Parts: sequence; C-alpha cells; structure tokens
Amino acid sequence: MLLTNAKIARLAKNDDFGLIEDGALAMKDGHIAWVGDAGDIPDDHRTSNTHDMEGRLITPALIDCHTHIVFGGNRAREFELRLTGASYEEIARAGGGIVSTVSATRAASEDDLLADALTRVDAMIAEGVSLIEVKSGYGLDRDTELKMLRVARAIASKRPIEVRTSFLGAHAVPPEYKGQPDAYIDDVCIPALKAAHGEGLVDAVDGFCEGIAFDTAQIGRVFEAAQNLGLPVKLHAEQLSNIGGTKLAADYGAMSADHLEYATSDDAQALKAAGSVAVLLPGAYYTLRETKAPPVQAFRDHGVPMALATDCNPGSSPLASLLLTMNMGCTLFRMTPLEVLLGTTTHAAQALGLSDRGQITPGARADLCVWNADHPAELAYRIGFNPLHARIIGGVL
Ligand code: NIG
Ligand code: FE
Repeated sequence: MLLTNAKIARLAKNDDFGLIEDGALAMKDGHIAWVGDAGDIPDDHRTSNTHDMEGRLITPALIDCHTHIVFGGNRAREFELRLTGASYEEIARAGGGIVSTVSATRAASEDDLLADALTRVDAMIAEGVSLIEVKSGYGLDRDTELKMLRVARAIASKRPIEVRTSFLGAHAVPPEYKGQPDAYIDDVCIPALKAAHGEGLVDAVDGFCEGIAFDTAQIGRVFEAAQNLGLPVKLHAEQLSNIGGTKLAADYGAMSADHLEYATSDDAQALKAAGSVAVLLPGAYYTLRETKAPPVQAFRDHGVPMALATDCNPGSSPLASLLLTMNMGCTLFRMTPLEVLLGTTTHAAQALGLSDRGQITPGARADLCVWNADHPAELAYRIGFNPLHARIIGGVL
C-alpha cells in the first residue's frame, strides 16, 4: 500500500518532528518499506493500491505504556470524599482506595471485567491507540491476579489493539494481610508472579514503592524474583514522596520508572545511567491535585527519555484519553508538543522494551495514525477534541 499527499511526522529525527511537508509512505508485509518526499517515490513502491491522504497528517500510532484498565467497579464515591477534604493517602489508610477496587475486582466475573475494560479500550482506539500496557494489581491474591492478566490478554483477541501485561502484585497490602506486608510479598505476591509467569501471562513486573504501599526492600525481593524468571521490571516510584524507588528501579535496569513527581536530579542521573525511561502521568497529578510537578528539566538535562501515559485507573486517574494526557503534559508539566508526541510513540515503545515501532522509518511496524490536522502540535493543543481520521495497524487500514 502506498499513501500519498500526506504530511508525515516521522519522529525519527528529534528536530521539528522529522516532518516531511509533501510526503509519501510505502508499506509492505505490515512494515514501513519506504518514506520520503512525494517527488522521490521509487518505482518499485508504486502500486495501484495507492491512497490519497488529501494533505492530512500521519504520525506513528499512539501507545499508552501505563494503564490499570482492567478493574471492577468505580470510585466515584471516593472522588466525592476527596472533594470534601479527604486525601488520597487518608482514604487508602482507612481501607478505601486501591483496596476498595480489590473487593470489586475479586467479585467480578472474567466476562464482566472484560466487557467493562473494553468500553475504555474503545475510547482509546478511537483516538488512535495501537498498543496498551495493562497491569494487574487489583487482585492481590493469586487467583484474582491471574484473572486480571487473562482479561488483559483477552482484550487483544476482541479488539484490533496489542496488549503488554505487567504483573503488579506489589500494588497494596490486601486486608487479610493488614500490617504484614512482608508476609504478603513472600507468601502471596511472589508465588502468584511465578504462577502467572508459568501461564505465559506476564511481560514485565511492576510495583508500587510508597509509604502507603511497599518499601524498597520489599520491592527488591519482587524484583529479584522477576530477574530469576528473566522478566524486565518497572516501578511506580516517587509519586507521593521520595523513598528511593527510582534508584532501586535503576539498579535493576528497569525499563521505566513511573510517576516521579518527587524524583530528584540524582534520580534522573540514575535513570540515564540505567537506560530507563521516565514515564510521566499527568492524569494522576491532576486528579490528586498534586502541586509538585515531576523534574522535567532534570530529565532533559540528563537526557532521560520521557514517556507519557494515561495511568487509566478507577482511583487516581480515571482517564481514558491519551490526547488529553498529551495536553496535560504540556499545560501542567510544561513539556513541548514534540516531547509529548515522542512520549506517546517512540519513548512509550521504549518504556515497554520495544524498538520496532513508535517511529516512521523503514523496517518499523506500519502502525500509523492519520489525523485531520496540519501540524503535529495540534494533537496536544486542543482539549476534548478528537481529530483522528484513520488508524493503520500492521499495514492494514
Ligand atoms: O498509578 N500509584 C499506584 N497505583 C495507581 C493508583 C491506583 C488506584 O488508586 O487505584 C496509580 O496511580
Ligand atoms: Fe499506575
């Protein structure tokens, strides 16, 4: 297939989006075969299967590299409580928060969890998302963690979207282990990880390193188990306070450290040295009315790639719009439109350990978005407006 009469943001060069004003793009066997100026189309890429893009903008398809999109129930009631003054941490310590979603997720059937998740997945597909990462972590017992991961895998069989799973057993201490986080890690979390891995349900291992969740020693044990299974790690780190999660993640060569509001310049340096991506989650920052923004300038100074994701979850970020996330990245974190587009394409792929997509370059997967837009900065600029014209996944329109 050949696409002509398109403006193409290759992102393969980081200046000015790698923009080709009057471009063409050839695809073969699900991959990009050639991209360049309209006047330079090689003869062997000319085909009757040619589509005129009528001047529209083409970018890599979007990737949401951090979601908790599978969960039972919702937390609208907790939202109300926060509006009358309760904090996220107070609600969590009083047995609400993540633990209340755990009860709803344990009670839900696999079919119901899937149907509910698909409503959110459909919203993402409608905005040009081709790949989502999905975490467990609302089961906190073996069977429910596995159930969540099976549902996550099932999403890709029901919709034209790819899924990468992360095991997040170390998300919170369940009520039956209240006050015994170490016992939970050793008796439930690590055995559940091994069982899920045994069923081929795990692509990566995540944790929540925070005062209301697990400390670095506890997460370290989970990471040791991951390493023994040959699984890459990532971590919710420095979201509400700085307790050393970022440096721990870097020590284990994490694919990413996520949230990072309370990360320091030293943490940025550690991420750079480890080759990890900083995944920023403005939906959670916004919802929790956090006032400390992540150290974006330190990430720039140290050359740490920044990704951006919805963190779609029922508590801290009930957000299913990656376009709105990009807008928030600019408005709340002062990222540039180029940084937020790299953050939902090239760097989002990198945060999932994927180097075969997220850029428009020969050999990359032909996962593309066609937008009713003149310039890529428009994607981050509008609020509550979806300019998607078409999605091309694996070379299929
Ligand atoms: O990424 N930080 C921990 N986990 C989720 C929140 C989950 C919840 O509140 O249900 C997050 O923000
Ligand atoms: Fe999260």
